[in-house]
Amino acid sequence: MYEDRIRCAALRGKITSAAHAARLVRDGMLVGASGFTRAGDAKAVPLEIARRAREESEPLRITLMTGASLGHDTDRILTEAGALARRLPFQVDATLRGAINRGEVMFVDQHLSETVELLRANRLGTLDLAIIEAVAIDESGGIVPTTSVGNSASFATLAERVIVEINLAQPQELEGLHDIWIPGRRPQREALPITHAHDRIGTTAIHVPREKIAAIVISDAPDSASTVLPADEETALIAGHLIEFFQHEATRGRLPKQLPPLQAGIGTIANAVLSGFAASPFEALTIYSEVLQDSTFDLLDSGKARFASGASITLSAQRQAQVFGDLERYRDRLVLRPQEVSNHPEVIRRLGLIAINTALEADIYGNVNSTHVGGTHMMNGIGGSGDFARNASYAVFATKSVAKDGRVSSIVPMVPHCDHNEHDVDIVVTERGLADLTGLAPRERALNVIENCAHPLYRDLLRDYFRDAAALGGHTPHRLDQAFSLHTRFALTGSMLP
Ligand code: COA
Repeated sequence: MYEDRIRCAALRGKITSAAHAARLVRDGMLVGASGFTRAGDAKAVPLEIARRAREESEPLRITLMTGASLGHDTDRILTEAGALARRLPFQVDATLRGAINRGEVMFVDQHLSETVELLRANRLGTLDLAIIEAVAIDESGGIVPTTSVGNSASFATLAERVIVEINLAQPQELEGLHDIWIPGRRPQREALPITHAHDRIGTTAIHVPREKIAAIVISDAPDSASTVLPADEETALIAGHLIEFFQHEATRGRLPKQLPPLQAGIGTIANAVLSGFAASPFEALTIYSEVLQDSTFDLLDSGKARFASGASITLSAQRQAQVFGDLERYRDRLVLRPQEVSNHPEVIRRLGLIAINTALEADIYGNVNSTHVGGTHMMNGIGGSGDFARNASYAVFATKSVAKDGRVSSIVPMVPHCDHNEHDVDIVVTERGLADLTGLAPRERALNVIENCAHPLYRDLLRDYFRDAAALGGHTPHRLDQAFSLHTRFALTGSMLP
């Protein structure tokens, strides 16, 4: 049975149903599941955990760790079943978001490179169980991941027991794309030997002792398609501002003509901005990122990019059919790594990445809020944006200048929650223009952000705020009685406009 998918004959006897495998889960367990931005998520056993939580009289609430977000409404189904006590390090599900914001699920919003560091150092407890989606188990018992590596390799290595979900819907041609390398323990750790985006330093499968594999489940469902929207006029303008800026940097000899490797964050804006590079004069681009979205394949197809390294491949339905139906075309130009390698500060700093991530809002000094709507309500999480921004050579944050039909300004006097502070933010860009904050003092930054990035509807408000604050003095002038006036007005009236 499944000889080509489970090539280690000794393990074939472990095949069982998802319902049976889910019986390994006990109340209070710490469970690590594969899945990164809807790609390569365990699809069968988590649903059986939810069913048990719903149907059984005994409580069943777990801490669930993943690489990043899951597809197939798994977070919604687990939340509705009451199966989640704690969740980390990232999510994008509306139902789970609601439960987090009501305080029903404890959500730990973490830099994506750090979860398994903490686990390895025994600072998050013992990982009881790992549930890993695989395309195959090789002759030696190695687990071959599917469309994401994420945290799967470390989860499998660190967990007491492992359930493998062999997903027949995932193309076997994925085998060979992965590069599994796990850092040693600190403080004796070796250097991470990636010096180019295309370097391969590890193995193509995850190796764990065979006796740890407690069950193998067969599943048959493709990844959920990504939900990003196509580029629009404003995202095209944002891309245009950035490309013009990088051309300018290259002309001045500050950047090589090929540009350093690019990273682009999740979501519609980052995807559209990366796609915009297809119309740029830059050639032979490389991508050293976390999620490889449609835009990566646009650049590979147009010949603008020659290589892409990531932790997952998350595509629209149309792109899924094309890319996974023709993987041979991309085989030599792709690698999938553990997220602690794709997001590793050492590599990001060494390669001098250009990191493009998205802000919900930025303040006039360049502090960025990417996670908390109104300063209090969790949106998705910081994801890898902090891993990249802190260590990139150019840390860019993009946002449209207004949200909610102009009722919200994305440029505010002071962010009510700060994910990326002014020390880590080099560039703020909106459809209105780009503020290069490199080497600027706070008072210079404020003028630059207001004049270049704010929407005209809000520019005078922000100018007045800064003028009054500057009159009070200070290195970073503020009027603390007014700093959140836009947010409080929005809460009261539904608009930041007076
Ligand atoms: N206040 C309130 N809501 C805001 C807002 C603000 N200042 N700015 C945007 N929004 C809302 C939008 O209206 C939209 O709402 P909707 O879903 O109801 O339409 C939603 O936020 C998404 O905004 P959008 O403009 O479509 O951007 P996006 O899809 O590119 O997502 C983030 C933007 C910030 C939510 C997303 O990029 C994110 O979660 N980032 C953090 C994690 C990260 O950067 N990971 C990448 C690391 S590799």
